[in-house]
Amino acid sequence: MSTDVLFVCLGNICRSPTAHGVFEKMVAEAGFIGEIRVESAGTGNWHIGERPDPRSTQAAAARGYKLDHLRAREFVSSDFQRFDYILAMDHSNLSIIKSKQPANFTGEVGLFLAYAPNLRVDEVPDPYYGGEKGFDNVLDMVEAASRGLLKQICQQNGL
Ligand code: 4NP
Repeated sequence: MSTDVLFVCLGNICRSPTAHGVFEKMVAEAGFIGEIRVESAGTGNWHIGERPDPRSTQAAAARGYKLDHLRAREFVSSDFQRFDYILAMDHSNLSIIKSKQPANFTGEVGLFLAYAPNLRVDEVPDPYYGGEKGFDNVLDMVEAASRGLLKQICQQNGL
């Protein structure tokens, strides 16, 4: 049985694909391909089928993370049947996820930054309408939370 993680933001072209690419690389480097599986989705439907925002792809590439293979998709209710962790980038997206959560879901739904308490913020700010610095800021936060999440999953599953 694998542990399946879904990262969720609004458009699935900036924050959640960044989390997807960063966490996927950390999982691979730790030797857990197949044991920990990663996807991302957006609560909005504007960008379905699109590649990540080029600004996200470029900022990620500068740190050695690949995002080119990712395509945006919409978060769907059946994701509750496929994932153990459904982690939102902000409160607004968390509310949307929770509004669809079935009573029998036994996994974890929460904020991704809960895994990086040292940051002392709980939302990854949407960089879409801002400057280049916003994308590096997203990466800093996502890297910190990814380390915390990987540690937690490893502890919980004896990996
Ligand atoms: P994301 O950023 O939620 O981090 O992918 C956004 C991308 C696009 C839009 C909003 C947020 N949009 O409104 O098109």
